[in-house]
Amino acid sequence: MSAAARTPPTGEPSQSWDPDRYRREAGFVAELGLPVLDLLDPRPGERILDLGCGEGALTAKLAAAGAQVVGVDASPEQIARARDEGLDAHVVDGQALASEAAFEAAFDAVFTNAALHWMKRDPDAVIAGVARALKPGGRFVGEFGGAGNVAAIRDALRAELSARGIDPAPYDPWFFPSVDDYRARLEAGGFAVREIALIPRPTPLPGDISGWLSTFGESFLNALPEADRADAVAAARARLAPVLAGPDGSWTADYVRLRFAADLVEAREAP
Ligand code: BEZ
Repeated sequence: MSAAARTPPTGEPSQSWDPDRYRREAGFVAELGLPVLDLLDPRPGERILDLGCGEGALTAKLAAAGAQVVGVDASPEQIARARDEGLDAHVVDGQALASEAAFEAAFDAVFTNAALHWMKRDPDAVIAGVARALKPGGRFVGEFGGAGNVAAIRDALRAELSARGIDPAPYDPWFFPSVDDYRARLEAGGFAVREIALIPRPTPLPGDISGWLSTFGESFLNALPEADRADAVAAARARLAPVLAGPDGSWTADYVRLRFAADLVEAREAP
């Protein structure tokens, strides 16, 4: 999910999305999301909301399974790409689902992959919006970054800001909850949790870690003057080489997924 990138210092997280860059640096995301689709078990004719659909790679798979699928994402660029692919996709912030008139008791299931960790400002509003969007008994199934996700990468980016005299906390855009934390939020939002687990998933990257840092670490880098950003990426890369680089020059990111399936028991009023 995104907010427009701004010149520093903003004092708040910022991240932009370029569909081509995303596909280059994170083309693996959709493929690695296939087990979450299996967990959802979409059935022909079901109405499914794909929350944080990005450019729609998994939205298309849901449609191919026979579901009537609607994708939403906060990035206009990603939604434009999804629409180019013929998908029913709309620019909506996942933290503001509750203000979408058409999303009331409208879906059999809400699916989400690799998106919720970008919705740090109000994760409970996300859950409340999902509950409102579901029909009674509807299911909420998804996966995103859990506690410890990209810990080495996050530490390296934070260390580079600290080394330059900047408190990294306000620029850290990620919400990586523990199982206990997210289970409690789901239950407070009216869901019965069927399953929830942290799954360490070291993930080979398609290229050098610099590309990942520049693409997904943008919020941290935006805290710096533009002239200092390349140096910060190089210094973070040097910190990470001993832990994430292989002898052949390949890079593996320290992903940890939080995968869950929950059923709506009782819709609650959005806060
Ligand atoms: C993730 O999918 O876990 C992720 C991707 C980019 C930045 C942070 C986390």
